[in-house]
Amino acid sequence: MDTRAARSKSEISGGAHTPRQHDSAHKHVTGSADYIDDMPVPAGTLHGYLGLSARAHARIVSMDLEPVRKAPGVVAVLTGADVPGVNDISPGGRDDEPVLATGEVLFHGQPVFAVIAETREQARRAAQLASIDYENLPHVTDVRGAIEANYPFVTDPLKLERGDVETGLAHSPRRLKGAMRIGGQDHFYLEGHIALAIPGEDDEVTVWSSTQHPSEVQHMVAHALGTVSNAVTVQVRRMGGGFGGKETQSNQFAAIAAIAAKKLNRAVKIRPDRDDDMIITGKRHDFVVDYDVGYDENGRIHAVDASFAARCGFSSDLSGPVTDRALFHADNCYFYRDVRFISKPMMTNTVSNTAFRGFGGPQGMLGGERIIEEVAYALGRDPLDIRKANFYGAADDPDGRNVTPYHQTVTDNIIAQIVDQLESSSDYQARRAEIIDFNANSPVIRRGIALTPVKFGISFTATWYNQAGALVHVYQDGSIHLNHGGTEMGQGLNTKVAQVLADEFQVDLDMIRITATTTGKVPNTSATAASSGTDLNGMAAANAAQQIKARLIAFAVDKFNVPPEQVVFEPNHVRVGNELLEFGDFIRQAYLARIQLSAAGFYKTPDIHWDRASGKGRPFYYFAYGAAVSEVSVDTLTGEYQVDRTDVLHDAGRSLNPALDIGQIEGAFVQGMGWLTTEELWWDDNGRLRTHAPSTYKIPLASDRPKIFNVELASWSENREPTVRRSKAVGEPPFMLPISVLEALGMAVASIADYSVCPRLDAPATPERVLMAVEGLKAMAADGAPEGPGATEN
Ligand code: MTE
Ligand code: MOS
Repeated sequence: MDTRAARSKSEISGGAHTPRQHDSAHKHVTGSADYIDDMPVPAGTLHGYLGLSARAHARIVSMDLEPVRKAPGVVAVLTGADVPGVNDISPGGRDDEPVLATGEVLFHGQPVFAVIAETREQARRAAQLASIDYENLPHVTDVRGAIEANYPFVTDPLKLERGDVETGLAHSPRRLKGAMRIGGQDHFYLEGHIALAIPGEDDEVTVWSSTQHPSEVQHMVAHALGTVSNAVTVQVRRMGGGFGGKETQSNQFAAIAAIAAKKLNRAVKIRPDRDDDMIITGKRHDFVVDYDVGYDENGRIHAVDASFAARCGFSSDLSGPVTDRALFHADNCYFYRDVRFISKPMMTNTVSNTAFRGFGGPQGMLGGERIIEEVAYALGRDPLDIRKANFYGAADDPDGRNVTPYHQTVTDNIIAQIVDQLESSSDYQARRAEIIDFNANSPVIRRGIALTPVKFGISFTATWYNQAGALVHVYQDGSIHLNHGGTEMGQGLNTKVAQVLADEFQVDLDMIRITATTTGKVPNTSATAASSGTDLNGMAAANAAQQIKARLIAFAVDKFNVPPEQVVFEPNHVRVGNELLEFGDFIRQAYLARIQLSAAGFYKTPDIHWDRASGKGRPFYYFAYGAAVSEVSVDTLTGEYQVDRTDVLHDAGRSLNPALDIGQIEGAFVQGMGWLTTEELWWDDNGRLRTHAPSTYKIPLASDRPKIFNVELASWSENREPTVRRSKAVGEPPFMLPISVLEALGMAVASIADYSVCPRLDAPATPERVLMAVEGLKAMAADGAPEGPGATEN
């Protein structure tokens, strides 16, 4: 906590690189942070609720909505026919995602109508009264089924290729093949989706939306209303978590609320129940990875041929870029001489899957780490040795072991340094030896330990997304208003961007107020996503500040007759020649001299380019690195386990805010652990999602966190690229650190067969799945069967 009294004269309070708490932390914990459902609504506000399809794939023969219309409090019932503009909210403009389905439904739970009523409860009850006649059509809900049924791709697949993979595989001394199934994940943000639309004059409407992408909500609302973007204003103060689940999934709620609001000329709010939120909105893509690997006795991998098939759901949504990013991360930190990765973005009759922290990267990376484990177990080696044997080389590697499958040279590789430091600080070698001893004498409890690295590419692969704007006003009293295109979802973006601005003007952080994101202040923004929020908006804000400072310097030069280098922004003051003016006084004088004290800043990431057709380019401006060691113990009679200890060393460059960055790492770690351990999505044979509430879907609890949890930043790291204050993006990369938990569980399981068989644990490694793997290895040990449990096709 910092107080005015604690301020030093030599430094501002809360500048860049200081560990400040989140600007809303006290409001989050006291319940005084405003979310959309807390906002006072205009008199006469109506409430919407959605009616959902009860079939996975069917033709709608007829719909009887009369009972819904006649229900108490109902003001209107809307169907696709009531969409005044285009009945499509597909982000890629592919016309494959209706606001409300007409004619045909493509997944169980697809919205087909909306009820608007005086109260939310009335709308909710009325939505149950529709009777819809369906003619069932064949449906497929999983990846293998979609491939077998020859279902189409929802978008063009990607191929990354370097070297000659056929020859490389054929000439490798050893070879293995396998498959891994990787589960999806629900975002489980604490604040669910919500939209509040307030009609204005003519075709105008203002929508408060819980979205990571206000500009897209604006465009989608305009599109669905049949009007233009300047009629629509979208505002976001904060989200109670987004995690990628609000990159595109907010469009539907916003569009329906806006359509109803304009039609009825009353404000309309839509907030689905948690169950409906989980059923209606897309999730992390689950994947099936098939791999064919050539390697040698030393554990060097020579060639990899792998395919990454994903359950995309009924429409394209973001599945193209998500499956692309899976391929971009399947190499993780490893150089493969001959490599071919292909994506298979499969259509399925399930909700359309979407962005989720890591954006496909985690699934690709996990596939890559499975390959490492396979090689390690096949050779009877510590997987860490195999990891090290395959690390990318340095920028000047004489053998060229620094080129990725997408032909970008890795020039900032620090993974060996990170892993070495963590290996010794966590005492990895001694603990692993102790665990192997322990397991040899422990009949029931088995332990495991694993150290896994992360390399994550920073930039949107859609190059044009790498731009941002900011609007900065300095008021006459020296207080500063900051608005930028990013959205706050708990990650601390606003605090970090404000710190950058405080640094630019050399004023204390509490002189800066960040206001709600609105399309009316900063236009054409990108989603706050790809971990790039601070990189992009921080630079845009700095650019705005620099414009204002340039004007202020010119003013001082003119007024005080000093050379420009004698106008210096010092902590809460401006030094002009020998005179030290308080910042507020100086600003007041500039105002009286009619200096413009407002500026729109802009930034675009330099030097990146990507040619998808050839699979070549520099899609990433830089890489963020990290590593984790996790230790687990498993009860081999029940499959239950706990994480005993995790040590993390993560690279946030020159951290803008070490407190927030460590918070991001801890949060990402636990969320990633949930993905890999307890969070399981399950659809029944009718294509109905059966895990649609916390009763059936288990996110990690506070008690599931590692019992000992040591998180450190690689304090020596500095971004080699001139990013904002040489920091690195931190939102997503640490999500992949808990791959160490899965591999540690694998080691505990493998101990049953004396580590001679790769445990091939699929994700999530629920206690059931761990138990089955243990039982499989026990059976194998009993009858000497050659095949391990995972060796069967998943
Ligand atoms: N942290 C919190 N508390 N809540 C969130 O919703 N989203 C994550 C990450 N950290 C998220 C979060 C995701 S998916 C991304 S892409 C980044 O934050 C986005 O914010 P940034 O670009 O400002 O890091
Ligand atoms: Mo994050 S998945 O890029 O919103």
